[in-house]
Amino acid sequence: MTVNVALLGLGTVGQGVYETVVSHQEELRQAAGESVRIPVILIKDSCKNRSISGDVEITTDFNDIFKYPIDAVIEAVGGCEPVYGYLRKCLERKIPVITANKELLAKKGSELMNTADRHQTELIFEASVAGSIPILYIIKNYLKVNRIQKLEAILNGTSNFILTAMRNNKQSFEQSLAEAQRLGYAEADPSNDILGWDTFYKTMILSELIYHRQPDWNDVVRKGIDQVTLEDINAAIESQEKIKLMATLSRSSNGSIKASIEPVRIKKDHPLYAVEGVNNAVRIKTDLADDLVLSGPGAGAFPTASAIMEDFVSLFKNNKPLKDISKKRRAVPLFK
Ligand code: NAP
Ligand code: HSE
Repeated sequence: MTVNVALLGLGTVGQGVYETVVSHQEELRQAAGESVRIPVILIKDSCKNRSISGDVEITTDFNDIFKYPIDAVIEAVGGCEPVYGYLRKCLERKIPVITANKELLAKKGSELMNTADRHQTELIFEASVAGSIPILYIIKNYLKVNRIQKLEAILNGTSNFILTAMRNNKQSFEQSLAEAQRLGYAEADPSNDILGWDTFYKTMILSELIYHRQPDWNDVVRKGIDQVTLEDINAAIESQEKIKLMATLSRSSNGSIKASIEPVRIKKDHPLYAVEGVNNAVRIKTDLADDLVLSGPGAGAFPTASAIMEDFVSLFKNNKPLKDISKKRRAVPLFK
């Protein structure tokens, strides 16, 4: 038997997923109990050259995916429309969806999760926050007794890459951004990265997960790194500090959720001081475990494909598709 996966999008992330499915068949077979195949890929521009071998239909018509007996959909297109409608259609047909789309999740995650629940299927999205770091899994499956007091995080690989290149190589902002784009770290619209929106969406997903709701978006301070100059970077160096685009999330004593995204200067003894380049890091302060820090690559084809494919195999337990297993054994929904 073969598990058939429809892939939506064949850019940086989609290509990474496609190549991983080809290169990691043995691991996928062990985890899923069956071989995994991508029979159909949705793209936008049919004139682009594609590095795809074998018997795969490349289409610009979303409905073509239903010509195949699809067991799961991996979404790597980005943005809200037309993807929201596409994913709804998949979930309504009980097809599990794996997505890396933080903007869609921050804006429409609850609706999609409700749709998934109503149709007894899965919507999973580890790849949407902090790239290869399994931070959603840890919060959801491990930190159940601990009270999370505060979270501090570097969540945008592009911004951290730019700040690092400006500091270490004295590169201009523009040069550093162009390099991040060439390496596939930046969003299709890189202003989402440099103005802090990408970090904002990821912080909202974390807030849903930890506090089961988002703060009022109007109350969230959101600044990006677009105003950071080489002079600012040098001033930080002189004080033995670094500038980082930092997300913070906490709940105050009156129950309100506080979040901010802004460039801050941190000192050498800060746990996120050493986080360089495309890496992300999440620092979680809890009442019992105290101070946890996780770090790893936060963007790029294979770190993102890593999170997507680990999500994908979580649809299987003991080599059986989760849909064949009692609903009670499903992972806890994120937006509940
Ligand atoms: P990308 O390189 O721009 O690729 C987007 C893909 O989607 C392209 O193949 C494009 O088709 C296709 N596409 C765009 N609009 C479409 C439409 N209306 N209909 C059908 N196909 C469409 O983007 P990416 O960097 O891979 O990112 C994809 C998603 O993953 C986004 O949600 C992003 O936020 C998220 N993500 C990215 C990274 C990363 O490191 N890049 C990491 C984590 C999460 P064409 O090929 O024909 O242009
Ligand atoms: N553009 C995003 C980043 C991709 O640079 O972090 C990973 O979500």
